[in-house]
Amino acid sequence: MAESIFIPTKADKKTIYEALAPQIEAILSTENDLTANLANFSAILKEAFGFFWVGFYWVKNGELVLAPFQGTLACTRIAKGKGVCGTAWQEQKTILVPDVEAFPGHIACSSLSKSEIVVPIFYNKEVVGVLDVDSDQLNAFDKDDQVGLENLIRILEKYLPKML
Ligand code: SME
Repeated sequence: MAESIFIPTKADKKTIYEALAPQIEAILSTENDLTANLANFSAILKEAFGFFWVGFYWVKNGELVLAPFQGTLACTRIAKGKGVCGTAWQEQKTILVPDVEAFPGHIACSSLSKSEIVVPIFYNKEVVGVLDVDSDQLNAFDKDDQVGLENLIRILEKYLPKML
């Protein structure tokens, strides 16, 4: 597999997301281990965008459990409907939070986190996990991030059958 990724410089977010897509696909298509793939997926996003915290929570025995991530110490378990992650799971849709303090029930793993986006991951039409990205800046995420991250998660979903 590739030992490094190509990240276009002086490019807008949309261009960077588009450049990552085939590279993530190449990595996911050649490795069958879920943990290894989620680890590299979060490492790539951290390297490309420098996100404050980026990683996964996976559904296990009816709750979200911390999975591979890049960033600071994080809460390990989140119930369905709780926090931004549990809400994305319950509502089965991406949740974009410009100001975490304005989101009722937000779970503060770090007081430095100011805005957040959570994308649910589907397998057989059920949510099996979420991708969570946090920023230490307010209003850090917009529609370009939503579309870009959702497209990358669609690639992950395509290869999930061989990883589960
Ligand atoms: N803020 C999240 C919890 C996870 S951490 O941000 C890593 C939430 O409200 O679900």
